[in-house]
Amino acid sequence: MDNKLRIGRVALGIAVLASLVAAGELRALDNGLALTPPMGWNSWNKFACNVSEDLIKQAANAMVSSGMKDAGYRYVVIDDCWQVDRDAQGNIVADAKRFPSGMQALADYVHSKGLKFGLYSDAGTGTCQNRPGGRGYEFQDARQYAAWGVDYLKYDWCNHSTQDSQASYSIMRDALKKSGRPIVFSLCEWGSTKPWLWAADVGNLWRATGDILDKWDATVKWGGMGVVQILDTVDGLQSYAGPGHWNDPDMLEVGNSGMSLTEYRAHFSMWCLLAAPLMAGNDIRSMTADIRDILTNKEVIAIDQDPLGRQGHRVKRADGLEVWAKQLADGGRAVALLNRTAAEAKVTASWTDIGYPEHVAAKVRDLWAKKDLGEKTGEFSAAVPSHGVVMVRVEP
Ligand code: GLA
Repeated sequence: MDNKLRIGRVALGIAVLASLVAAGELRALDNGLALTPPMGWNSWNKFACNVSEDLIKQAANAMVSSGMKDAGYRYVVIDDCWQVDRDAQGNIVADAKRFPSGMQALADYVHSKGLKFGLYSDAGTGTCQNRPGGRGYEFQDARQYAAWGVDYLKYDWCNHSTQDSQASYSIMRDALKKSGRPIVFSLCEWGSTKPWLWAADVGNLWRATGDILDKWDATVKWGGMGVVQILDTVDGLQSYAGPGHWNDPDMLEVGNSGMSLTEYRAHFSMWCLLAAPLMAGNDIRSMTADIRDILTNKEVIAIDQDPLGRQGHRVKRADGLEVWAKQLADGGRAVALLNRTAAEAKVTASWTDIGYPEHVAAKVRDLWAKKDLGEKTGEFSAAVPSHGVVMVRVEP
């Protein structure tokens, strides 16, 4: 082939590739994982650094006995503080007092329950609790995680100094791939460098916000956010999410006692409408039946896990009353009527708000009351409690 022809072909190849990338066709990490948002439990929100082998085993047992496994929860993830040091060869060392049997035995235990095992580390030199970070040890750590049987890695962004986020997370992505074990890669740089713009082919999910607080409406200086602040932050990012690559509005606070049951139901509903990863963050060993019923509502979870993988978004807002909608694989819509005000109020979703012509008749089902509401034409209204949602599935 003469040189001109070769250059021409290369140029054509690049142009095709560029148009595919532009069309979003190639923008997904090709590890085949998290085709629907990952579901599981993570130790941080409730237990912080108070993690141990016993706690993790009991959480795995509870995930099965509570019905959470049946409802789709899989990953049992130890967050910060499991690690204490590196040995003379640079291998990461788990806390031998808290995890006397070691990580491999713990992973085996979690796997024996039909569940998957996850760990936490950090792209900088130290974790957020100043345990050893992954920087410079990415390939060694990934090999170790794979040998232990890790299925999920949450990777934080403390102590990163002048590191570039995309470059740093890409090294760990490559290291996980090289390890040969399929490992869900969860990026946690808090939305600080707009990961939705670059992370679809780096991680399976990326935090889009600061840390969640166990509060409905609050912000704090260090960046923690309540439920409504998180909703306002992730709305608008819906075009970046899809199978294998999700916006992560942070883990669930359902059951941690800082909100009312109505607020927890709304928090859970909205995370499902957002196609958010569903990582429970409460003490699932001792939750009340009300909390368990929220976390295991299969019809609401089906909205989160819908195979089309669309993130829902806000289609209408006025005076603290909002309508959010999510397109579903069967052509239906999940609709959440959200009341952010201090008093009960009537909220109406018009068909034109949610993407249907006015004249269409559609079946409406209330996903919390678990009740068919009959056929509606043009719109659907309901009385929504303060800080609550009414969530329905609309099927034309
Ligand atoms: C950061 C993360 C949290 C949690 C803690 C652990 O704040 O955003 O989700 O992992 O670190 O130290």
